[in-house]
Amino acid sequence: MYATVVLAAGKGTRMRSALPKVLHPLVGVPLLAHVLKAIEAIPSTSSFAPLAPSTGEKLISAPRAPLHHARTHRPIIVIGYDTQQVETIFGERCFYALQEEQLGTGHAVLAARGVVDALDPLPQTVLVCYGDTPLISSEALARVLVEHLTQQATVTFLTAVTEQPSDFGRVVRDMDGQVCEIVEMKRASEEQKRIKEINSGVYCFDRAWLWSRLQTLPRNAAGEYYLTDLIGIAHFEGRDIATASGSVEETLGINNRVQLAAAEQLLRRRVLERHMYAGVTIIDPAATYIDENVIIGTDTVILPSTMITGKTRIGSDCRIGPGTTIDQSVIGDRCIVRNSALEEATLEDEVSIGPFSHCRPGAHLAHGVRMGNFAEVKNSYVGSETDMHHFSYLGDAIVGEHVNIGAGVVTVNYDGVRKHRTTIGEGAFVGCDTMLIAPVTVGEHAITGAGAVVNRDVPADVLVVGVPARVIRKVQTAESSTTEDNKKE
Ligand code: UD1
Ligand code: CA
Repeated sequence: MYATVVLAAGKGTRMRSALPKVLHPLVGVPLLAHVLKAIEAIPSTSSFAPLAPSTGEKLISAPRAPLHHARTHRPIIVIGYDTQQVETIFGERCFYALQEEQLGTGHAVLAARGVVDALDPLPQTVLVCYGDTPLISSEALARVLVEHLTQQATVTFLTAVTEQPSDFGRVVRDMDGQVCEIVEMKRASEEQKRIKEINSGVYCFDRAWLWSRLQTLPRNAAGEYYLTDLIGIAHFEGRDIATASGSVEETLGINNRVQLAAAEQLLRRRVLERHMYAGVTIIDPAATYIDENVIIGTDTVILPSTMITGKTRIGSDCRIGPGTTIDQSVIGDRCIVRNSALEEATLEDEVSIGPFSHCRPGAHLAHGVRMGNFAEVKNSYVGSETDMHHFSYLGDAIVGEHVNIGAGVVTVNYDGVRKHRTTIGEGAFVGCDTMLIAPVTVGEHAITGAGAVVNRDVPADVLVVGVPARVIRKVQTAESSTTEDNKKE
């Protein structure tokens, strides 16, 4: 049985940001979410069935009643800076422990003691990892757990060997290869700085030993309590210290925005490869940016300089890009989107957009809509097979099927105070440069002449022209002319 504690209380001074470090996004999701995903995916075997509390309440201080088992492992997050934001994002996926003052990683783990000790049954082992190492894998976490349990060690931690140990803690071993201590970069001697084995920041501790030693841990010269100092203490006491090895890549910690960009690049490549293996063509992976939660169907082609973010879903056989940004949108099959921007938009199948058009939140383009260049749709439904090829704006509108929106058509939806609706009936032909002064309705199969300023409802089947637009005649449809002919006879 083990409990998992994730340290996420640091402000992240080196990020120079108002946002807590662990909330900075990486391929569109917060750093901490990547760590939680890895924890939740640790394989659960009978040898180390994860211990997880099940009560719904969030815990900031020591709980009164014991917390019981649940099917999914629920880690304890140590938070301290902008706790509200972290709790709002992760909710009941975690338990929370508050570290009021950020006095170091050792101090942070101790802040979780009350929550860990309220677990039922009481865990023997505490797995600790950091919220700022988003590339950590569930396999690496499991390796540390397995090593810890099989070696029956007091403490086990993950290390990696790298030619560029940068600001990681160095693992100091004696002549026999036994771990003696972890020395932080700031306190390392020149010789220790050359050590290539680094501390990845994943540990398993014997719970009872952990609490007792954390309580007596001395504050160092920097005024902090370092979790890493426990390794030296364990060595001094002659305790069993085990290590597991991991890759440098997954150890990458994010302390500043340069490291954030490096992690972004690695993870982005992983996301793109996942899509390519699943049947999506990505012409230039170096110029394509896709968030982790995006779903794309097979045989869709993504052209360069394209950014697809949020929980966007794209169907099969689409052509997206070049130069396109799509956020939080749903796109059907066989759509074409060129050099355009979509936000919270919905495209049904076979919609074609662009180049240079913009679908803003609430734009819903039904089957087969053709939206050409320099067009904008906001909070509007556009019926199937409708055309709006050039320079037009639809805002707060409901447009029927088979409508033609001519060049330069604008829904004048805002009177300076409020937004108003425009309704355009099926089969209507809205002539070039028509201004639709909302609220207004254009009836089915009606026609507006070029330059019409429509400030009153237009009945079905009539032609209106002028400023303000007035009816000049009934629309001659094939059907009505046949009726006229019949009358004459
Ligand atoms: C730490 C390790 C270092 C290791 C590296 C791996 C220590 C002293 N050093 O260094 O050996 O190589 O991680 O990435 O542990 N935090 C709190 N409360 C605090 C301080 C920190 O919750 O009072 C959290 C931070 O939010 C962060 C994590 O602990 O998520 C690590 O802290 P950080 O300051 O980034 O440690 P490093 O200098 O990277
Ligand atoms: Ca760090």
